[in-house]
Amino acid sequence: MRYRALGRTGWQVSEVSFGAWAIGGSWGPVRDEESLAALNQAVDCGVNFIDTADVYGDGRSERLLARIKRERREEIRIATKAGRRLSPHTAAGYSAKNLAAFIEDSLRNLSADCLDLVQLHCPPTEVYYRPEVFGALDDLAKAGKIRFYGVSVETVEEALKAIEFPNVQTVQIIFNCFRQRPAELFFAEAQRRGVGILARVPLASGLLSGKLSRQSQFAADDHRNFNRHGEQFDVGETFSGVDFDAALEAVEEIRPLLPPGVSMAAFALRWILMHDAVSCAIPGGKRPAQVAENCAASDLPPLTAGAMEAIRRIYDARIRPLVHQRW
Ligand SMILES: NC(=O)c1ccc[n+]([C@@H]2O[C@H](COP(=O)([O-])OP(=O)(O)OC[C@H]3O[C@@H](n4cnc5c(N)ncnc54)[C@H](OP(=O)(O)O)[C@@H]3O)[C@@H](O)[C@H]2O)c1
Repeated sequence: MRYRALGRTGWQVSEVSFGAWAIGGSWGPVRDEESLAALNQAVDCGVNFIDTADVYGDGRSERLLARIKRERREEIRIATKAGRRLSPHTAAGYSAKNLAAFIEDSLRNLSADCLDLVQLHCPPTEVYYRPEVFGALDDLAKAGKIRFYGVSVETVEEALKAIEFPNVQTVQIIFNCFRQRPAELFFAEAQRRGVGILARVPLASGLLSGKLSRQSQFAADDHRNFNRHGEQFDVGETFSGVDFDAALEAVEEIRPLLPPGVSMAAFALRWILMHDAVSCAIPGGKRPAQVAENCAASDLPPLTAGAMEAIRRIYDARIRPLVHQRW
């Protein structure tokens, strides 16, 4: 595993880290024992940074991370999120009082005195125009409740606005072979300001593992079933917002680019790591074998110029018209 600086935090984080949404819920049935095995596999592979949220399984994901931290000696940093407990989910809800309460819940779930990194959880765009929200986070940092804070955003525009706040240390954004716009302008701006970048949904919800087909079935409680058209949260989170059939066709064009012995998941993650501005990718994994395969991306040699160009062409022809202007 190779490590990269996470912005100005002083931390060196595993360039392939771990996304802990699926082990909390919303991705079909999961068993805690298997989730813990996946987490142990991640730590065995050198993962030292894990992304979660208070709402993933209503605290289940955070509580599993508290367990892994108790059981392992290695230093593991946890990035959690706050805001999605709000119902309705409004900008006004991001008050100092509500944020403080969400932080207390996460501290309890994670059995911690201070949270390593708290990210606003895809708040409404208006939040980025309310400096008092960032002031409230500064106060929580001064009070010793949180070490650092950042944001998880839906759009490049939100990301660019967020990093104008000087204490925003990290931005989490969807970035993968099917979601390339962050690399155009945002990455350079983030690098200039020393902001760390977490690339989320790096496998386009599993599409970029190459294992899905038109026949794939998902459990009723899997967002790849219930949120395909954005029924419950932003449609851009499920399959990166790309039409499923169009994405499958693009995947078949990527397949011949894989070097012998390299899985598509590792190849797709290595594509992300070709971008220096990215601090880490945070693939979700439910099983130890998936985690090992994903971590192997860090050991791959750089993709060739030809492969990079081919991915760009596939994106331009098949995916860009569907998503580029939206997020
Ligand atoms: N709003 C936000 O802030 C937000 C939103 C989304 C995600 N995130 C974060 O980003 C993380 C990653 O995104 P994501 O989980 O949505 O999507 P992802 O990483 O693109 O896809 C993860 C899913 O792909 C499948 N998979 C993973 N590795 C695989 C492999 N090697 N081979 C085959 N299949 C594999 C697994 O599902 P199956 O085995 O069931 O197919 C897994 O749950 C999340 O866990 C979460 O921490 C944050």
